[in-house]
Amino acid sequence: MKIICSAVFSDLPRQELQDRTAVMIDALRASATIITAISNKCDRIVPTEEANEAAAIKKISEGNVLLCGEIAAQKVSGFDLGNSPLEFTEDVVAEKIIIFSTTNGTVAIKSMAAAEDVLIGSFINAEAVAKKARSLENDIVLVCAGTKGKFSTDDMLAMGCIIDRLLRIDETLETDDMGKVALKLYHDANHDILSALEGSTHFEYLKQLKLYDDLEYCTREDTLGVVPVYQEGVIIKG
Ligand code: MLT
Repeated sequence: MKIICSAVFSDLPRQELQDRTAVMIDALRASATIITAISNKCDRIVPTEEANEAAAIKKISEGNVLLCGEIAAQKVSGFDLGNSPLEFTEDVVAEKIIIFSTTNGTVAIKSMAAAEDVLIGSFINAEAVAKKARSLENDIVLVCAGTKGKFSTDDMLAMGCIIDRLLRIDETLETDDMGKVALKLYHDANHDILSALEGSTHFEYLKQLKLYDDLEYCTREDTLGVVPVYQEGVIIKG
């Protein structure tokens, strides 16, 4: 079995996903927000490509719906929540349907529908997502969301972390060159992910917005055991 890695989802030819297990990685912050919301028992998450689309879906939705997401990492005006995982507590999201729009993460998820299975992964569920991906017995494609079509160091480090967990489960898995680089980057960080991200573009941008608590939360390893899965247009607990 192989691990195939992509630094930016938009660079990945769709046919690379067929008959494979895909893992979407948006370490800062969409993956962590989705994993947290699912862990805190939201009913489901509906990913959208744009804030306008999310608002339109909310208008025609019935029931317990929360409109959530960011533009330029800041809560969209009029939305219930932004994209901080710390906002998605159990008392806020339990049993709710979340309509969710982010700049890169939700767009990446929707672009991966051709895969046999689509999982959401990051530092905070690295071991759990690795176990689930390996158990599905297909080649695994790790797909970074990136930032606006560009490589993002936070995603690459999280990819290295997930590869580390995959290799602990099955050392016979073969990874491509990008996976080897991601794994080295992760091992070199020696569990100090925050220091390893110093100077990287999206990390520094979120720091400018004073989102220090989010940065700490999103870079902790293996804190949650849930694996969100994307199927038939919605994200649910896997
Ligand atoms: C995204 O999906 O683009 C990110 O999660 C942006 C953010 O940090 O809010």
